[in-house]
Amino acid sequence: MEEFHKVRRLPPYVFEQVNRLKASARAAGADIIDLGMGNPDLPTPKAIVDKLCEVVQDPRTHRYSSSKGIPGLRRAQAGYYARRFGVKLNPDTQVVATLGSKEGFANMAQAITAPGDVILCPNPTYPIHAFGFLMAGGVIRSMSVEPDDSFFGPLERAVKHSIPKPLALIINYPSNPTAHVASLDFYKDVIEFARKHELIVLSDLAYSEIYFDGEPPPSVLQVPGAMDVAVEFTSMSKTFSMPGWRMGFAVGNERLISALTRVKSYLDYGAFTPIQVAATHALNGDGSDIAEVRAVYKRRRDVMVDTFGKAGFEVPPPAATMFAWAKIPEKFRHLGSLEFSKLLVEKADVAVAPGVGFGEMGDDYVRLALVENEHRIRQAARNIKKFLSTADDTMHNVISLNTRR
Ligand SMILES: Cc1ncc(COP(=O)(O)O)c(C=O)c1O
Repeated sequence: MEEFHKVRRLPPYVFEQVNRLKASARAAGADIIDLGMGNPDLPTPKAIVDKLCEVVQDPRTHRYSSSKGIPGLRRAQAGYYARRFGVKLNPDTQVVATLGSKEGFANMAQAITAPGDVILCPNPTYPIHAFGFLMAGGVIRSMSVEPDDSFFGPLERAVKHSIPKPLALIINYPSNPTAHVASLDFYKDVIEFARKHELIVLSDLAYSEIYFDGEPPPSVLQVPGAMDVAVEFTSMSKTFSMPGWRMGFAVGNERLISALTRVKSYLDYGAFTPIQVAATHALNGDGSDIAEVRAVYKRRRDVMVDTFGKAGFEVPPPAATMFAWAKIPEKFRHLGSLEFSKLLVEKADVAVAPGVGFGEMGDDYVRLALVENEHRIRQAARNIKKFLSTADDTMHNVISLNTRR
């Protein structure tokens, strides 16, 4: 029987193959150090959990909640944008709460896409950016991830030669998986381009608060005139270590926010009210929770860059996000990222995310998530060092002769 139309657009998750291998290695007793999935391991700060526990005692909070988010939550998100970015938002018309930014992004795609609409999407990128639109009937045209002048030539060509003319441009900085960070000047050029060509800009700012070096990442909405064309998605998952709570936001252009709000009003009743109240509490906090989360990831990043480098696996230091994006060591590169990732599970007890899972342009890379503690990251480096130093002798089926040193 032929597969359903929508399901055919969703190939099996590449990451599943590594996950299966990981599960069977664990079942056989291996201690796998898991740098694969970007699933924050830090506990949600106590004050946020306490607020949830307090509010859940009130039976009035057990009813259906508000699909677009309770007013206090939308006000708190507007407050965050005002403090952090100097961007003024109307909480009634320019802010909608989402069940995590992933849901918000996917339903925005449902709301705005007509069959065959062309979407300009980074490659490699977080999968929902492409698959949200593919599920909605759109067509993807891949774009560069590097936020510099090289971005605009291909963008210009895409707008000139796509039929129909592209509907939207997706940007994601700090980027998952590459950890590229964009400057405000880059955003100015993006917005100028988008206004000129009547392109919608969808900015995924899930890592707004996970940064280590330099200036905090800007919001695209800081650019004058951005509100005419752009919507931005943020997430509480990483900022406050609340991935399981499913809280995020879309903010920006009223027409787009209204379209998303309308679709959501048919689909959900919003997050559980106690979760929305606890999220409000988090957003209205003094920022110390965020600083602690950031400091933990920074220490892990430094340990990873140092120990992996010494082990012979160069890891460029990411300036932001909870990921490092590392080129596969040369003698393994011909294997591709999926096979290399499987080898790491089998031979080094380390799980990573194969770059190809983020798009074909990622196949020379693997993504390493900073979701194990420093001690385990050091252990992963020791395992990898051992694997790399014995590979020449033990991997004769895998390393071709001409790449051996
Ligand atoms: C770039 C990016 N956007 C969105 C998400 C999803 O976040 P949420 O938990 O808010 O759905 C992630 C999670 O890994 C991400 O990396």
